[in-house]
Amino acid sequence: MASRVIPVDPFDLVIFGGTGDLARRKILPALYRRFTAGQFATDTRLIGAARAEMDARAYRAFVREALAEFAPEEAARKKPLAAFLDLIDYVTLDARGEAGWDALAQKTRTGRIRAYYFSVGPSLFGDLAKRLHKHGLAEGDARIVVEKPFGHDLESARALNRTLARHFDEGQIYRIDHYLGKETVQNLMAIRFGNVLFEPLWNSQYVDHIQITVAESVGVGGRGEYYDRSGAMRDMVQNHLMQLLCLIAMEPPAKFDPDAVRDEKLKVIRALDPVAPANVVRGQYEGSESQPDYRTQAENPESTTESFVALKLNVSNWRWAGTPFYLRTGKRLRERASEIAVVFKDAPHSIFGPEAGRHRNILTIRLQPNEGIELGVTIKEPGPGGMRLIDVPLDMTFAEALGSEEADFPDAYERLIMDVIRGNQTLFMRGDEVEAAWAWTDPIIAEWQEAGTPPLPYATGSSGPDDALMLMHRDGRRWREIRP
Ligand code: BG6
Repeated sequence: MASRVIPVDPFDLVIFGGTGDLARRKILPALYRRFTAGQFATDTRLIGAARAEMDARAYRAFVREALAEFAPEEAARKKPLAAFLDLIDYVTLDARGEAGWDALAQKTRTGRIRAYYFSVGPSLFGDLAKRLHKHGLAEGDARIVVEKPFGHDLESARALNRTLARHFDEGQIYRIDHYLGKETVQNLMAIRFGNVLFEPLWNSQYVDHIQITVAESVGVGGRGEYYDRSGAMRDMVQNHLMQLLCLIAMEPPAKFDPDAVRDEKLKVIRALDPVAPANVVRGQYEGSESQPDYRTQAENPESTTESFVALKLNVSNWRWAGTPFYLRTGKRLRERASEIAVVFKDAPHSIFGPEAGRHRNILTIRLQPNEGIELGVTIKEPGPGGMRLIDVPLDMTFAEALGSEEADFPDAYERLIMDVIRGNQTLFMRGDEVEAAWAWTDPIIAEWQEAGTPPLPYATGSSGPDDALMLMHRDGRRWREIRP
């Protein structure tokens, strides 16, 4: 059974930064896949906008190449590719000047949905918003999509929110966090709020702790300059991991609607205790025989930027008081593997005696790769020899449970861009959410800067610095192995 495709209303989409890396890798392939799935019609217009001097024909060639590289299977189909390229237009434009804006105004059509994707550095967000407004492009059914990083700290995020608010209403602003578009991340809400099974146990009475791991095996190669100014805390924790934490910890919203969901997420961020320095570990990867170390890749021999961070957090509310959340993320770790593990408490009393050992239920939500859900349950080891207990997984790998076609999930960007067109903000961050996340992150970073302690080195292909293991060991707990 193929997944259901609900066509969206006709729209014009302008991609500012249309010749950039994100457009090539993610936005254009995502649009192409949704087009071939039949989700939008042939009177849609997709307009690349950038500084480069080129005409629509040259831009179509650029798009064709991008698709050949990043959506090769689909791009090999000549007919849909030609139909898609027919939708493509281009305008040479200066975000900081007047050149190109009239041409852009002529190319987009009023009376239909107009979406503007800011796939450019944050320093241009304000200029783009201002000029869209000035040229009458913000009127009617217009909306903007803003990529991360949304600010560098609370102050800059606030300033950015204020600038955007001068020209667009909050209901027109789509702040992207692509983790919210991941299939399993949305499934998290379905699992929690679509089943009676888990919610009664989803609190500190039954949950010992929660672990969130987002491990990458790649380094910062190619993005060293950006990354070195950012670090894992700003690049991953303030946004992606924080969003995962919110979905795990939030109260059930009354309905699945944008503000109801976002109100509950915001409450989680606001309930986070400040993090004591002893509860944070920063690391920076070393090189290996075949791989350069972080400082070489960042082209900054003195860099004290972290490529790894692990934290122990407390969500101070009735539901979670006493249940710690352990978060870790890093580059050049042993595998690309991301998961959330909800580790339940021991049974209150073991009727099987000490020799039965210690057994725990663990609900694992695997984000990538091999998306799926696994529930570890305790059973009797088969065969004679008394009551020996073992833990076995009740495994629901989506690809197996749903068949590979159903489990061929759209990329996060496909879903999120279509949500922009549908006008559904549920999976986008609201301004106050982003600010609250920075308000929590800033003191941690400020503390590092004040203390001036460098991050701890860790080996390429490892699980991060040993101190990160200690963060859990000292509480009598263990990280789960990083494996796909
Ligand atoms: C991005 C970060 O937001 O997410 C990158 O800037 C990171 O540093 C990436 O590599 C990870 O995304 P994914 O979808 O590959 O887990």
